[in-house]
Amino acid sequence: MTARVLSIANCKGGTGKTTSTVNLAAELGARGYRVLVVDLDPQGHAGLGLGVAARLGSPNAHTPLLRRQAGLDGAVQATDEDNVAVVPADRAFDGQLGTSDIRCFADALAPLRRIHDLVLIDVPPAAAALTVCALMASDGVVIPTTLDPLGLEGVRQFARSYHDTMLRYRAAPLGLAITPMRIDLRTNVERETLGQLRTAFGPGQMVRGVRTDVAVSEAFARRQPVRRTRPRSRAAEDFSNLADDLVQRFGIDCSAAFAEPAYGRPEGFERGVSWR
Ligand SMILES: Nc1ncnc2c1ncn2[C@@H]1O[C@H](COP(=O)(O)OP(=O)(O)OP(=O)(O)O)[C@@H](O)[C@H]1O
Ligand SMILES: [Mg+2]
Repeated sequence: MTARVLSIANCKGGTGKTTSTVNLAAELGARGYRVLVVDLDPQGHAGLGLGVAARLGSPNAHTPLLRRQAGLDGAVQATDEDNVAVVPADRAFDGQLGTSDIRCFADALAPLRRIHDLVLIDVPPAAAALTVCALMASDGVVIPTTLDPLGLEGVRQFARSYHDTMLRYRAAPLGLAITPMRIDLRTNVERETLGQLRTAFGPGQMVRGVRTDVAVSEAFARRQPVRRTRPRSRAAEDFSNLADDLVQRFGIDCSAAFAEPAYGRPEGFERGVSWR
């Protein structure tokens, strides 16, 4: 069994891609899935959210995009979360690919697929070339979106690009899962946008989302996932439900269940909420 690879992507910025990546990784890692987060966004936020930055001079998530046949050997770093490892971003990456081979990233990721159950790629917004490289490596795509007209437009735009890429290269064959973020259904605009998304994409492409919760940004400030900083918060509950939906939607298998953590926490680290 090789890992399922999911891109967390949206051409629109600030929709909750990094927040979803970090919190889903921690949730599924705690359940025993061996999870690898690949931070393809030069902002480096996914690494930061898990308390990890690229080591100077070491390979990182962008190395295979700069040099053909450069691998990700030595780029994987353990985190404080059970079973969660990260390939951090090159925060100096300027968006220019050093190769025209759109499979460069997929090829570099292939050996790492064999030793994980799930790879989550945090894809930067408005970065067409990087997005295509990520899609070439992916089985499916998770699209976090805010529930407002611009959010809806962003999802439509992303879905169009995704289908074009699919037609051209047959990338990410398992399709899309749209997840609403920062939900507050007390407002008319959010309820209407949710209805429009459901009509446009159908229940098969929608998964549960995450309600607005200040615990999310508090957790990020502490460089930890919300399930650890506020395990009883509504965001922690929602990320758990979202993880359930994605496991089902994309058929994510857990070959490591009940095994010792593949990536343990540093010695002396106090264990928080773990197995469910
Ligand atoms: N459920 C939530 N409740 C409250 N705030 C949230 C929630 N989800 C995300 N946020 C906040 O929204 C902001 C944007 O989230 P995030 O950085 O994950 O988006 P992004 O799509 O990765 O952004 P970018 O496109 O810049 O990479 C952050 O400040 C984050 O803390
Ligand atoms: Mg981000």
